[in-house]
Amino acid sequence: MVIRKEEPADIPAIHALVRDAFGKDGEARLINDLRASGNLALSLVASAGSDIIGHIGFSPMSWEGTIGLAPLAVASAHRRQGIGQALIEAGIEEMRVRHIGAIFVLGSDKYYPRFGFLPARQFSVGCIYPGGEKYFFVRELRAGALKGKSGTVRYAPEFDKL
Ligand SMILES: CC(C)(COP(=O)(O)OP(=O)(O)OC[C@H]1O[C@@H](n2cnc3c(N)ncnc32)[C@H](O)[C@@H]1OP(=O)(O)O)[C@@H](O)C(=O)NCCC(=O)NCCS
Repeated sequence: MVIRKEEPADIPAIHALVRDAFGKDGEARLINDLRASGNLALSLVASAGSDIIGHIGFSPMSWEGTIGLAPLAVASAHRRQGIGQALIEAGIEEMRVRHIGAIFVLGSDKYYPRFGFLPARQFSVGCIYPGGEKYFFVRELRAGALKGKSGTVRYAPEFDKL
């Protein structure tokens, strides 16, 4: 299994993987929309031979120097083997290289804390999705990156269609 940046030839396989993983096509379309508008800041795939078995996307948040992790998908036949973890860690490393200050994610409270994500409310950051506070997390890549920032941070506009 190799983690690498997406290539144009991967696009149909990414779409099929993400649609199947979520059981609906909203997240797969979101990736296409982000790509089309130039907001797919990073798109990594997990590939095994000629198969795409995992994908992670990142897009800019409304606060400069911060980024959102979404969506993340691993093919059902390949779950619980650390592929999700490998995609998250590779994404974090790339964001460090890009001097991103913080990564936000809306997701499972049982999963993302494993990767150093803390509840965003600890930083006085709110989520625009009603009831989402419990599931909104952030990982500072530079200590103090969120200092002086509070309120509600927004995802890229393409997320409004989800
Ligand atoms: C979430 C997902 C990407 C995890 O991929 P993965 O390659 O299986 O993840 P890893 O192997 O790194 O980690 C698996 C562990 O995380 C746990 N985990 C994964 N997703 C979880 C969730 N939503 N809630 C609770 N635990 C979860 C698994 O139970 C497993 O725990 P264990 O190690 O104690 O057995 C995959 O399950 C998936 O594609 N799900 C459907 C799409 C989705 O929900 N994406 C996430 C949106 S936030």
